[in-house]
Amino acid sequence: MRLFSLAPLIRSWEKPTNNPAVSDFIKHPVVPLPDRFPEPVFSEEDLVFTDAEKERIEEFQVQYPTPEGAVMKTLWLAQEKFGFLPPEVIRLVADTLGIPFSLAYGVATFYTQYYKARKGAYVLDVCTCFSCQLCGGYDMLHYLEEKLGVREGETTEDGLFTIQGVECLGACGTAPILQVTNGPYVHNLSREKMDALIDALKNGDMPPFVSVTLPQDEDTLDGNRRSDVESTDVGRTPPIAETLE
Ligand code: FES
Repeated sequence: MRLFSLAPLIRSWEKPTNNPAVSDFIKHPVVPLPDRFPEPVFSEEDLVFTDAEKERIEEFQVQYPTPEGAVMKTLWLAQEKFGFLPPEVIRLVADTLGIPFSLAYGVATFYTQYYKARKGAYVLDVCTCFSCQLCGGYDMLHYLEEKLGVREGETTEDGLFTIQGVECLGACGTAPILQVTNGPYVHNLSREKMDALIDALKNGDMPPFVSVTLPQDEDTLDGNRRSDVESTDVGRTPPIAETLE
C-alpha cells in the first residue's frame, strides 16, 4: 500500500498559481506569513545542549506525564542559551524532547514571550489588550514609538530597545502595563513613568519588581500580598485612553 504523502501538497503551495485570489493572498496575506525556510542563524556545531542542560531538560520531563509537557520550559532554557528561537533552535528543542517540530513551533510562535527574532538589549512589551487598551495602552505604545523613533516590532539602531505590543499580561487591575524583557512590570503606565524608565535603562538600571495591591484589597489583605519583591505600591484608578483603536 502506498503511503499518503504531503509532499505534492507542500510543493503546490510553492508553485505559482493562476488563481488570482490565491496569488493575491500569497503576495498580501492578512497576517504576514513567516519565511518557511529562513537561512539558519546558528551552525550545526552550535546547535547542541551541554550535559548540564540535558540534565535540566530531563528534570523538566519527569515533571510531566508526556514529553510534550516539558516543551515550554525547554524552549525557555533554549532562549536563555541562544538569545532567541529561530526555527533551527526550535527543531533542537523538538528533537531533544522527541516531539514533532510543529508542536514546539506552535508553542514558540503562540507566546510573545518567546523571541523568534533577535531583539534589543531591552524588550519593552506594552499591553494593548482590552483593559489596557481602554486605559491608554495604545497611547503609551505610540508615545514610546515617537520617543524611540521606531515602530512596534522594531529595534532601535543602537540595539538597546525593541518595542512590542502584546496581549494581556495578567495585571489588568493596574492598566496600562509595560513589561521589561519578560521581567519586571511598570504599572499604571504614564508618559512620565516611561521617560524615567528609558533614562534608567540607558544607565543599565532595571526597574524593581513591584507588588501592587489594588485599593479595594487593602483592608481584606492587610496591605501587600507578597514579601519576595523589592518594592510595593498601591494601584490607582486607571486613566481613560485618549484614543481607542
Ligand atoms: S489587558 Fe493589559 S494586563 Fe490585562
